[in-house]
Amino acid sequence: MSFIGNFVIFNHNLFKSRIFPVSWMGKNIIIVGTQWGDEGKGKIVDMLSERADIVARAQGGNNAGHTVVVGNDKTILHLIPSGILHKNTKCIIGNGLVVDANVLFQEIDELEKRGLKVPPERLVVSSRAHLILTHHILFDRLREEKKGDSKIGTTCRGIGPCYADKALRVGIRVGDLFKDGLLERIKSAIAEKNALLKHHFGKPELRAEDILEECRKIGKRLKPYVKDTLPLIHQCINEKKNILYEGAQGTLLDIDNGTYPFVTSSNTTAGGICTGLGIGPIRFDEIIGIAKAYTTRVGRGPFPTELTDSSGDMLRSEGNEYGSTTGRPRRCGWFDAVVVNHSIRINNITSLAMTKLDVLDNFDTVKICIAYMTGNKEITDFPPSLEELEKCEPVYEELPGWKTKTSDITKWNGLPANAKKYLERIEQITNTKISIISLGPKRTQTIVRKECFN
Ligand code: GDP
Ligand code: IMO
Ligand code: MG
Repeated sequence: MSFIGNFVIFNHNLFKSRIFPVSWMGKNIIIVGTQWGDEGKGKIVDMLSERADIVARAQGGNNAGHTVVVGNDKTILHLIPSGILHKNTKCIIGNGLVVDANVLFQEIDELEKRGLKVPPERLVVSSRAHLILTHHILFDRLREEKKGDSKIGTTCRGIGPCYADKALRVGIRVGDLFKDGLLERIKSAIAEKNALLKHHFGKPELRAEDILEECRKIGKRLKPYVKDTLPLIHQCINEKKNILYEGAQGTLLDIDNGTYPFVTSSNTTAGGICTGLGIGPIRFDEIIGIAKAYTTRVGRGPFPTELTDSSGDMLRSEGNEYGSTTGRPRRCGWFDAVVVNHSIRINNITSLAMTKLDVLDNFDTVKICIAYMTGNKEITDFPPSLEELEKCEPVYEELPGWKTKTSDITKWNGLPANAKKYLERIEQITNTKISIISLGPKRTQTIVRKECFN
């Protein structure tokens, strides 16, 4: 394949040296959170979806809360990909998700109430995805309660217990709803659970017949949406469609590379996009890491740059930092380049989208954590264990604030000089270009420095 101006020449047998305009080539772009979630992925995915044919999710479930603001309407999507608000996009819920079908139905109903049709032609659910059933939610809550002070602070949406069943190979998959032998599957899935309920939690046992009934109800409504999404996504890739892959949560919540055990139960990184949709890694053209201009976290676990003083309160109030899924106040702190560099490495991030820069507008000075001190040693690699992380103190670089309202600025040149310096310093420390800057929740409150789709 070679390029001449705006044309691309394919020399492959299949194409017999044909010439196509560059715009004909579809792009595969991953969007991934670089911190502890809630970076503003929903806003960026919605904005980029204008030119996407497909928006697909690959992992997580309705622990996600992705906010999209269009005009005065705010929509929080937990399961349906954030591209759904653009009428011409098709959305895929991939095999790597855990699906609470009742939440999915609620989301469809709410969108349709507002006049946005979500027929099976626009939304496809993988038959390989696992189902979150009522007892998964029960176990999530019971385990958190039992842990007391050492709880994870999960969203209590049944995510962990459902992924645990998947790993134990006793999960119920969406496709199982339409197969014979469902009752037997359920019975084998609940045998151990009932022993736990009775002897460990002191709670009533589950009845297989009740779960079967729950499954039947779900199956009735879900059936038209269910497909094997593997051939579908590969067909779209082969047809050179523009595809956005919407990550949920953030890299530091990744079960392998995050702040274990204070993480979620899936791979929230680019690798999770591959396995969660069945796509090999070299298919992707760009991996955009979404980073807030500061850092937040919901739930428990280490957070080196957390601010428990008035600056933290100011970030929370200016940024309206309350969980989109649970409403919990988010913990807030300065931008942590050690965290973001860890994410850039793991995900192979090709550029950053920096969100919520406007939230820093009123600060006299802003800080960037460039390393951690542990004892007498300065480190820049994110520590692998909680014990090591607990010993770390952030090393800050302090920059002057810009004390100017930025939410109406739409061009790089219009940004205050100190805001540009802040962003350029982050580019230097992370050795990564910032391709998108977000200055408010709305689609228009964005500076695009490099177009993502042709
Ligand atoms: P997600 O989970 O990564 O999609 O992020 P959330 O939707 O949970 O949280 C991000 C919040 O910030 C939402 O309320 C968004 O509407 C809002 N938001 C996104 N980008 C910006 C921005 O650039 N500035 C401000 N002020 N708010 C933003
Ligand atoms: P989005 O996609 C922020 C956190 C929970 C908890 C931990 C485990 O909106 O960025 P879980 O219910 O997944 O077992 O909880 O992970 N968490 C998130 N935090 N944003 C999210 O999603 C999150 N999804 C899970 O708060 O600390
Ligand atoms: Mg969120």
